[in-house]
Amino acid sequence: MANLRVLSGMQPSGRLTLGNYIGALKNYVKLQHTHDCYFMVVDLHAITVPQEPEALREQSEAVSALYLAAGIDPSKATIFLQSTVSEHAELGWIMTTLSYMGELERMTQFKEKSAGKESVGVGLFTYPSLMAADILLYNADLVPVGDDQRQHLEITRDLAHRFNTRYGDMFKLPEPYYPEVGARIMSLDDASKKMSKSNPNPGSYIAMLDEPDVIRKKISRAVTDSGREVKYDPANKPEISNLMSIYSMCSDLSLAEIEARYEGQGYGPFKKDLAEAVVAVLEPIQARYREIRASGELHDVLRQGRERASELAAATLKQVKEKMGFVVL
Ligand code: TYM
Repeated sequence: MANLRVLSGMQPSGRLTLGNYIGALKNYVKLQHTHDCYFMVVDLHAITVPQEPEALREQSEAVSALYLAAGIDPSKATIFLQSTVSEHAELGWIMTTLSYMGELERMTQFKEKSAGKESVGVGLFTYPSLMAADILLYNADLVPVGDDQRQHLEITRDLAHRFNTRYGDMFKLPEPYYPEVGARIMSLDDASKKMSKSNPNPGSYIAMLDEPDVIRKKISRAVTDSGREVKYDPANKPEISNLMSIYSMCSDLSLAEIEARYEGQGYGPFKKDLAEAVVAVLEPIQARYREIRASGELHDVLRQGRERASELAAATLKQVKEKMGFVVL
């Protein structure tokens, strides 16, 4: 399986949440042992909404350091910044020219992000074309993501297929790779909304760098369904089911084992143990994160990542250009 390739990425906007960890990052760490992995920080995607230069730099480094702290080993997997491999922007343009207005207009993420806004950046609209380029540059087989990226993966496959039909076989059609539980972690204050770092209420999400006591407080205040039964039933008990998914992913207990453990006990003991399970996962990551930020090793890792990623990306782009009829010198 070592020749099966994996690519994924996260935006450096805001702070990573437990949703990012459970939905994607935990799978990155797992897949590096069996696959040829490329994980990037998608700083070019971040600028589809305005960014403060200093904050963008800081967040890009913070997310890269969190990758390492969560357990991605740079001797096993390649970690890099999207903007340091210029082929992303170049293939992104090519994918934009292959994209149809109609298919981009159907993207729910675009609809959500542009709703009610007076002026909407064009980059927000063509965002999925750049994401397709990210994946196709590496001819990735698998893309570990959370459920909210489903449509983006579909359009990537459509664009790959369109290119192959028009210019001859070039791209594999990548498959999404979701966690078994927790592909969509919901807000702690409203289980009808995705947990998101852009939510203005910090009580709605757990940031990976939240202090242990903050995590405990947020979980104790998390909204729960009426009743007192710890039962996995997303349709009727969305809040408890969401917390159970988090618990399962932070403890490796199955949902059935969690139900059995808290039978007849109500929500109190469950939430207490859940908080400790989350702290037990995040506290060591936070300690490693502080070490990495202090050590100055990050730029070397990212430079080395850029080298490895560039090699593959350049080879793909050259083939693409040849197939499309550019004069390749
Ligand atoms: P982003 O930065 O919004 O999120 C990074 C990853 O975290 C997952 N995720 C979640 N999973 C479960 N529950 C949640 N509440 C939750 N919130 C976020 C996301 O599904 C994602 O996997 N478009 C992408 C970035 C991107 C990319 C790529 C991904 C750009 N190019 C190429 C894969 C391959 C994004 O905005 O993710």
